[in-house]
Formats: sequence, structure tokens, C-alpha cells
Amino acid sequence: MARIKVPRLETQRLVLRGWKRHDAGALYEYAKNPNVGPNAGWKPHADVRESRMIITQMFQQNTTWAITVKPGCGLDGPADVPIGSIGFEPDAYRPNINSREMGYSLNQDYWGQGVMTEAARRLLRYGFEELSLASVMIRTGESNQRSQRVIEKCGFHYEGTLRQCYRMYNNEIRDSRVYSMLREEYEELSSLWMTST
Ligand SMILES: CC(C)(COP(=O)(O)OP(=O)(O)OC[C@H]1O[C@@H](n2cnc3c(N)ncnc32)[C@H](O)[C@@H]1OP(=O)(O)O)[C@@H](O)C(=O)NCCC(=O)NCCS
Repeated sequence: MARIKVPRLETQRLVLRGWKRHDAGALYEYAKNPNVGPNAGWKPHADVRESRMIITQMFQQNTTWAITVKPGCGLDGPADVPIGSIGFEPDAYRPNINSREMGYSLNQDYWGQGVMTEAARRLLRYGFEELSLASVMIRTGESNQRSQRVIEKCGFHYEGTLRQCYRMYNNEIRDSRVYSMLREEYEELSSLWMTST
């Protein structure tokens, strides 16, 4: 399969760039944590090999970015080492519309510092301004209040809860809270966001 190249995107504190094969160690570092993957619907990684496989067969085949920190930005961490992932997939609910579903996850050491809100706003800007998207959809579990807060802070609209619609990696079936942002809503919001985020 052809590898998708994503452009490098910057925010005040972050650099979003494509995933590389040699990022497997950094991905495994946070993807082995049972507090991360299961909240996003996926199984914790078993070893670095599995993380490498996810990079080459999933991240590099989709519009998925590695989140890295800028040195001296106030977030602790080495430059150019992934601390999370964010990306777009086709929006399964709007197959004939230029719409994408956003998904993300973050190393637990960095939770609660506004990292994902900053990354998600940058991706929304890229999606609406560079990909000319008509809308962006995101969904999350009822119990994932951290993600719900990120979604609210980005300005998505809550559309409703699809009951018993999401099968987890362990076969557990969950409800999904579904949110979306339309192009005109983005245009109104983006003028309120700082240009660097
Ligand atoms: C969801 C996730 C990406 C959030 O990233 P983050 O960088 O910590 O998010 P932010 O710091 O931008 O915002 C988190 C918000 O949740 C709030 N929060 C933290 N703990 C919370 C809790 N237990 N209940 C409710 N809100 C909580 C924070 O206070 C913050 O809101 P605030 O800015 O109003 O104070 C991260 O927790 C994660 O990777 N979780 C596991 C994977 C996952 O759930 N992916 C999403 C699947 S839809």
C-alpha cells in the first residue's frame, strides 16, 4: 500500500509530523499503558514489534501525525520524540460528504496540560483550510470525560449518543457520543483562537 505523507504542522508548543518506523519505542512507551488505548477503543500494545506494525500498517497508511514537543516550550520532553498521535479517517456517517473523523491519544505523562486541545485545533485548521473539509466528526465513550472536555474546548457540537454502536477490541460493546463541527462553525471559532494554536 502507498504510504501517505503528511505535512509538518506547528503550534506554539508542538510539532506535528509524520510517523517514522524508528518511533516504535516512543509509541510503545505510552501505548502499553492500559489507561491510554482502551479509552480510545484499542488494546494496549504488547511489545515494540506491535507498535512498529501499527506505525507502518496504520499510521503511515492514513493521515496520522506524531505529536512532538518543541524544546524550551515549557512541556518537559526531548525534541522530536512522539508523545501522542492525532489524525483523520473517513467519516463513516457521511460517506458522500467531504468529511473526516478525528481521533487522538496521548502519553499519560502529558495529560492535563492542554496538549491535545492545542493539537486538535491545529488539525481542524489544516482540515478546513488545506483539505477544504465540509465537516469534522469525533466520537468518544460516555465515561471518557477528558476527551469530552477536549472536544468541548475545540467547539464541536454534540449530535447525540449512538447506543450500543461501538465494538471494543475485547468485544465489549459501548455507546458512542457523537460530535461534529461544520465549516461555517469552524470559520467563526478560528477567529477566536490564537493564530499559533
Ligand atoms: C483524552 C486525552 C487525549 C486528553 O488529552 P489532554 O492533553 O490531557 O487534554 P487537555 O489537557 O487539552 O484537556 C483535558 C481536560 O480534561 C479535564 N479533565 C482531567 N481529568 C478529568 C476528569 N477525570 N474528568 C473530567 N475532566 C477531566 C482537564 O481539566 C482538562 O480540561 P480543562 O482545560 O478545562 O481544565 C488524553 O487523556 C488521552 O490520551 N486519553 C487516552 C486516549 C483517549 O481517550 N483518546 C480519545 C479517544 S476519543
